[in-house]
Amino acid sequence: LVQEIAVQGPSLTVPTPDRGEAPILMDYSSPNIAKPLGIHHILSTVIGQSLYNLYTFSGYRAIAINHIGDWGTQFGKLFIAHARWGTKPIAEHSIDELLGLYVRFHKEVDAMPMLEDDARAVFAKLESGDPEIRAFWSSSVAVTMKAMEGTYRRLHVTFDEVIGESFYEDKMMSIVEEGKQKGVFVPGKDGAPIAPFPEEEKLPPALVLKGDGSTIYITRDFATVRYRIDRWHPQSILYVVDIAQQLHFKQLFRVIDLLGWEHPHLEHIIFGRMNFADGSMSTRMGTIVRLEEVLDEGKRRAAELIKERGEKIQTDDPDALAEMMGVGAVVYGVLSQNRLMDMIFDWKKVLTFEGNSAPYLQYTYARARSVLRKAGTDGDFGVDGTAVTSKEKLLLKQLMEFRSAVNAARTEHLPHKVTTYLYTLAQAFNAFYASEPILTAEGSVRDRRLALASLTASVLKCGAELLTLRVPERM
Ligand code: ARG
Repeated sequence: LVQEIAVQGPSLTVPTPDRGEAPILMDYSSPNIAKPLGIHHILSTVIGQSLYNLYTFSGYRAIAINHIGDWGTQFGKLFIAHARWGTKPIAEHSIDELLGLYVRFHKEVDAMPMLEDDARAVFAKLESGDPEIRAFWSSSVAVTMKAMEGTYRRLHVTFDEVIGESFYEDKMMSIVEEGKQKGVFVPGKDGAPIAPFPEEEKLPPALVLKGDGSTIYITRDFATVRYRIDRWHPQSILYVVDIAQQLHFKQLFRVIDLLGWEHPHLEHIIFGRMNFADGSMSTRMGTIVRLEEVLDEGKRRAAELIKERGEKIQTDDPDALAEMMGVGAVVYGVLSQNRLMDMIFDWKKVLTFEGNSAPYLQYTYARARSVLRKAGTDGDFGVDGTAVTSKEKLLLKQLMEFRSAVNAARTEHLPHKVTTYLYTLAQAFNAFYASEPILTAEGSVRDRRLALASLTASVLKCGAELLTLRVPERM
């Protein structure tokens, strides 16, 4: 049995017979520009990335796309705010200052409703190619992208393609025309085209363009689907997006059908809301809780935990360990919950060495590595599986379940199936470690136990990385 796992090697590849050649496109994170990443972005970002990792790990060709919201009225708002209250060129602003301008706009608009019209007019100008507004737009995009890159790096999130909504600017009108010709888009009350749906579907009509002819979010998504089909011929397009956009995606998918396009499987992967257990970091009026702040808070709390443990924690680099634990704890806190339900984020539960948490897995990994280090081996040798004790058997059985846990998590798009698996594995290892001597055992028994420690370490590392986590060699 040990051999069987050992034979698969540390990569523990999960073969799948039906993966096909066509890629799976994954649209995740996809934030809107001119605001920093907020805590709510973590859900789409890490659920998307872990599903992407699960697909590629299983031998699929997956393409990660960050569909940046870099087009829309918010630029008009930012432009107006900057024109009124800005004190320096837009490119010299930090992302927080951009947010500040945006927030100020929303504060003042109550007293000056015409600001809203000004903003719309600016966006219409942007769409018609006004050079001054264009330059402003590209500067604010650059400021935001730079700020986001740092956060993505901390989260081990990467994209194959970053394509903003602006990219589709010249690809929308032909689709609007096509829809009109096919009778899918008809004039609405104010004359602007809408897409009505058959009565029995009880789906409200989708607005296709605004009254002033400017495009909206869904118009850009029509063009995006067309582009993705033509460019990649994917087998599916998965959108990992907040449940608040359920209507949007229903309408989008139905319009694609009504247009008669041949299309791949289209799916909106939803997730519940995340709430902080102690009310900390809840949204403050008019502003957002920045994702970066939450990661920093995780790191700070991890550093405290490391200090508390004192001698019991061995590390050459407490700062790097705190980052790994803190960020890992936040991410794991999200991914360990069933995405279909509302989630509760509780610092006490995510940052602890006991229970289903990142630090517990990281600690277990470090423990397995430490045994191997002391034995002076990687433990990756074949051994016979006879005469195993009950604790060894339980551990082995759990190691063998890795494939099916990965397959289930991937096919059901439920990353928490991996965390549950890893938690059970860590428990099985710790039970084994507590009751079976490893280093002091002899001959083939010692080898077998070292092999088990080695396999446990490999699977924990591999599984953690599927979830974007990192594990320490020492802790
Ligand atoms: N930018 C959008 C938002 O922040 C999400 C985009 C999701 N992807 C898409 N193709 N519509 O709400």
